[in-house]
Formats: sequence, C-alpha cells, structure tokens
Amino acid sequence: MESGAILLYLSLCFLLALLSYILLVRNKRDGKEKTKLPPGSMGWPYIGETLHLYSQDPSVFFANKQKRYGEIFKTYLLGCPCIMLASPEASRLVLTTQAHLFKPTYPKSKESLIGPSALFFHQGDYHARLRKLVQSSLSPEAIRNLVSSIGAVAISALDSWASTHVIRTFTEMKKASFEVGILAIFGHLETHYKHELKKNYSIVDGGYNSFPSKLPGTPYKKALLARKRLSKILNEIICERKEKMTHEKDLLGCLLNFKDDKGEILNEDQIADNIIGVLFAAQDTTASVMTWILKYLYDNPKLLEMVTAEQMAIHMSNNESDSQLTWVQTRNMPVTHKVISETLRMASIISFTFREAVADVEYKGYLIPKGWKVLPLFRNIHHSAEFFTSPQEFNPSRFENPPKPNTFMPFGSGVHACPGNELAKLEMLVMIHHLVTKFRWEVVGSEAGIQYGPFPVPMHGLPARFWRKSTI
Ligand code: HEM
Repeated sequence: MESGAILLYLSLCFLLALLSYILLVRNKRDGKEKTKLPPGSMGWPYIGETLHLYSQDPSVFFANKQKRYGEIFKTYLLGCPCIMLASPEASRLVLTTQAHLFKPTYPKSKESLIGPSALFFHQGDYHARLRKLVQSSLSPEAIRNLVSSIGAVAISALDSWASTHVIRTFTEMKKASFEVGILAIFGHLETHYKHELKKNYSIVDGGYNSFPSKLPGTPYKKALLARKRLSKILNEIICERKEKMTHEKDLLGCLLNFKDDKGEILNEDQIADNIIGVLFAAQDTTASVMTWILKYLYDNPKLLEMVTAEQMAIHMSNNESDSQLTWVQTRNMPVTHKVISETLRMASIISFTFREAVADVEYKGYLIPKGWKVLPLFRNIHHSAEFFTSPQEFNPSRFENPPKPNTFMPFGSGVHACPGNELAKLEMLVMIHHLVTKFRWEVVGSEAGIQYGPFPVPMHGLPARFWRKSTI
C-alpha cells in the first residue's frame, strides 16, 4: 500500500514536469511567433522577385516597395530571403550599433575573383587589424603628398581625351582612377608592372559581373585565370620591395610591415587579395561619381560657372602653373566640395549594401531571422523628401547645412565604412580643378537615362567631346 502511494506520487510528479515542459516550449514558441516578419511579398518560389527587380530600374523597384510597405519590408532575391531597411535608424542598427549581428556577405564566385582574404569579406579581429592598416595608408596625412601625382594623372587623361573625337567618359575615368589606385597602393611602380596589372585586372573586371561558369572560354573562367596571373605579378612586386628593404608608407608598405599581437605577418596571398580588393573598391566607384559630376555640371551651366570661378581663382594664385596645386588648396574649395556631396547623394552609386543576420534580431516588433540577407537602402534614404527637400533636384547648396545623422551615407557607415573616401574626394577635386581651368566639354547625344553595370552611370557611359580651352 505504501509503495503504491509512492508510485502514484512519482507519477504525479512526472506528469506535472511534463506539463510544465510542454507549457514552457509553447510559451517560447508563442513568444517567437509574436515577433512577426516584416510586410512584403516573397514573389515566386525560388526566383522570388528577382525578375521584377531586373525588369525595371532597381531604384524604382525599391522606392515602390517602400511606398507600399514602409521603412522595413521583406522580399526574395537571387535565391535569398531578404529584409530591406529604408530608414536611417535601421541602417545605424545594422552597420554600427549591432554590426556584430550582421556579417558581410558576397557570392562565393565574387570572393574567388577578388581573393578571400580581402578586407570586406571579414568581420572581427582580422578585419579590425587589417582595416586599421588600410585606413592609415589612405588617411589624409598619407595621401596629402599625392596631390601633384594625381594632378599629373588627371592632366594626361584630359589631354588624351582632347586630342580624340568622342570618348565614353566612364571608360576613360576608369583608366584614370585605376592609375590613382596604383599610386596609393604602390607609390611609384615600374611601367611594365603597371601594364601587366592593368591588362589582367581589366579581364578580371570583365568577368566580375558575368555568369560564374567555369567552362573554358567563358568571361568568368578567363577572369579566374587572369586573377591567378595577377597573384604572380604581385608576388614579384612584393619580392622586389622586400629585397629593397625600403619602408614606404603606401598601402603595400603598410601591408608588408604588418605584425599582429603574436608577431605574425601577412602572407603573400593575404597581401595580394587586399591589393586587388582595394583596386576593385576604388576604380568603378570613383569613376562613376566623376562621370556623374561631368554630367551634372554640363546640365547646370550656372553651377559650372561658379565651380570654374572658384578653381580659376586658385589657378591664378598658383601663377597658372599646373603643378602648384596643394593639399591645403584642395581643402578650400567650398563650391566644388558641395557639388561632389550633391553628386554622391543624387547618383547614390552604391544604392544599398548587403549583410547577413548571424542571429534572430528583433527590430520595431519585427523579426529579422538568422541567415536572412539584410540590405540598408542608402539610395532610398538619400532620396527621401523627409531628409532632403525636393530630393530629385540637383542642388549643392543644400549641403550648406550638414545633413541629419545617418541620412547621408555615400561611403557607408560603421565598421565597414569606406576607408578610401578621402582619396576618392581628393581625386575628384583634383580632376575637377584641371578640367574646368583648362578644358571645355560637350555631352554628345541626347539619350537620357541610366545604365547599371552594376553601379549606375549615365547612358552609354556619357559620350562626350573635350577641348583644351586655349585652342578654341
Ligand atoms: C566615390 C568613390 C567611393 C564610394 C562611393 C565608396 C563607397 C563605399 C561604401 C559604401 C563602402 C561600404 C560598403 C559596405 O558597408 O558594405 C565602401 C567600402 C570600402 N571602400 Fe569605398 N568607395 C569609394 C572609393 C574607394 C576608394 C578610392 C578606395 C580605396 C582606395 C575604397 C576602398 C574601400 C574598401 C577597402 C572598403 C571595405 C572596407 C571594409 O570592409 O572595412 N573605396 N566604399
């Protein structure tokens, strides 16, 4: 009888425990279900809304979605569920305050072309250490000595355009920004190395946005082979630099001098991946913004007059000498600086960036599930009437007052913000100085519109004709 009571007691205890467990699990599940996914449409199975995105201007696609669903919405693109964020506050969360919960994410095919050790594929310690290094080699102190070399690149480019007929501005700007990238990475580099790097890099560039097929003869396969050759050329340059035992302050010098807490140095592949990474990050971005600047100045003759007056005053104070332009003068070009900022806003060439949630994150009562892609939409913020009055109007004077925090992010924000932003701006200032003081240009053809490759540039890369002012 006594043992029967014990058995009954134990059975009751077991039932109670089971009941509590079931209730606990249900509560937990309910809690998670309460945090719902953001509104939005996931489109067709697997392809999602990819076709919608590619069948129209991507800016219109995202703007329409924001109009319909608000500042946070879900969609399904390129085989991935995505959460889009179109508010300054949400971008700050992803890029700055909770950046550790959102890792950078790129397709494997692109990572193989650039090199897996490149800065922007990483998070945490390796990223932080490397970033400090890249940032220091591109800081204002490090690049202030490049003004005259960048000037020489700009003048040589402009002269070559003026002696031909119609050029595609974007294609030519790409050549100039490649040269500037080389300057920042290597300082002086022998012509044959420069030639080999340029030749192979352009093949990599050509395959970057192609279908990643490894079949012989495809642009992607050719790009992979060119990438291998680039590693070989870079290894030769690295060996030569090591033999010379010079302590240069350019990016290569910084990468070679790198030692972590344990005294570990970077190996040749890590150095090569980061050099290709910086070249990649520097070229099309700067070239597309410079192409837009030329378009906006051409379309706004009054503004061009103001920029020319500002630059002519500097040119005259340098006794019309091209080589006299100084770093300090580039800091004192208020009209030109505003034109650059407004171009960065209007063109928003990096319309958004990609991250991936490494854990479930709750934002404003919505669930951002672990593993989903998260895209802060810079362009939507830059083009919002809430933060920029008449956002579709090109109006540099709006930058007389600084924009509200996290509403102007052409160079990103937070741990992965662009370390090359000062170099990019310097390149633009120097290019504009030589352009407007000595040259005149005319945009050819009347076809308006934007072309994506993948950054937005004016249609056909802005065909234009250039003249030296004195020869008119
Ligand atoms: C107008 C020209 C440029 C624009 C608009 C631009 C924009 C950006 C943006 C938005 C990011 C952040 C991407 C993200 O958060 O996912 C970024 C990152 C980066 N940019 Fe730029 N960039 C420009 C020029 C340059 C130049 C000239 C260099 C180097 C010489 C450079 C090197 C980099 C690197 C290395 C990163 C990765 C940083 C990291 O992951 O920590 N960029 N850039």
